[in-house]
Amino acid sequence: MLNNFPLWPQQASTLARHVDALYIFLLVVTGMMALLICAFVIFFAARFRHRPGVRAEQIEGSTALEITWSAIPFLIFMVIFVWGALVYFKERTPPADATEVYVVAKQWMWKIEHAEGQREINQLHVPVGRDVKLIMTSQDVIHSFYIPAFRVKQDVLPGRYTVEWFRATKPGVYHLFCAEYCGTQHSGMVGDIVVQEPAQYEAWINGGSTGPLSATGEKVFAELGCAPCHRADAQGRGPSLQGVFGKTVQLQDGRSVTADENYLRECILDPGAKRVKGFQPIMPTFQGLVTEEQVNALVAYIKGISAAKPADGAKTSASKAATDVPAQSNGAQPNGAQPNGSQVQ
Ligand code: CUA
Repeated sequence: MLNNFPLWPQQASTLARHVDALYIFLLVVTGMMALLICAFVIFFAARFRHRPGVRAEQIEGSTALEITWSAIPFLIFMVIFVWGALVYFKERTPPADATEVYVVAKQWMWKIEHAEGQREINQLHVPVGRDVKLIMTSQDVIHSFYIPAFRVKQDVLPGRYTVEWFRATKPGVYHLFCAEYCGTQHSGMVGDIVVQEPAQYEAWINGGSTGPLSATGEKVFAELGCAPCHRADAQGRGPSLQGVFGKTVQLQDGRSVTADENYLRECILDPGAKRVKGFQPIMPTFQGLVTEEQVNALVAYIKGISAAKPADGAKTSASKAATDVPAQSNGAQPNGAQPNGSQVQ
């Protein structure tokens, strides 16, 4: 209904209408309050204006009135709070089986890596109707990955991963903005989200790829000499990484952590911080020796060997990123095919 209203961005994800509904509710409530207050101000000014021979009467409190004007706003605020929390949790909780895409931000560009191996810059191809989870980090300062048409925005921080997810509902090309001031060319740190029909997307994702991200990770793993210590048979000087992703890890200092993306990342860059119980602090840091892309590839590789060979009764299926390569389609579309009727909104 608001598609032709220029201040209203297009709705192109499943989250969009939830955000918009709450926003419209806020507009209506605050608009009605503003009108109500204006009306009362005018009414009272006229009704109780100064007239000759009439003395103003001092009125002392009214408990009933005070309770009313406290309780009603309280209930309205509680509606906003609960509704807002529900939308927030929906936005913050990526579905477990979402397609995973790695994003590395730097001054001033977005570097995208798909699990299948496709890389792109300032452009993200996604299929329509599939959940997509972005695993994002920054090489330098704080950026923010903002897609107005999807109503999603998430800060992208150096030194850790943050995530964002969406499910696109309409093929087309949508704006991508950096929404956190990050230096002189912040306003130029923009791009396109290209939403394609599944068949077009399969053709794109399978064309001209350098192989799965997890395979790149396996290569990096070998090149950096990780394998002799992190042996699959658990006889090495470091913990075996088979099946570790998504599991709980006991640490030397008695704590335990879940081996998620951020933990694996920290172990690569700051191995002493959360050392696994029973192992010596002999692993060197790889801070400065590996690029963000290589860290992403390593994480994808470790996830892959976790998904492929679940160890003793591991129920976790938190990730199947590396094994989640879609079937080859007999795509007639050339690489990078644009969706029909696409236009920047
Ligand atoms: Cu990156 Cu602003």
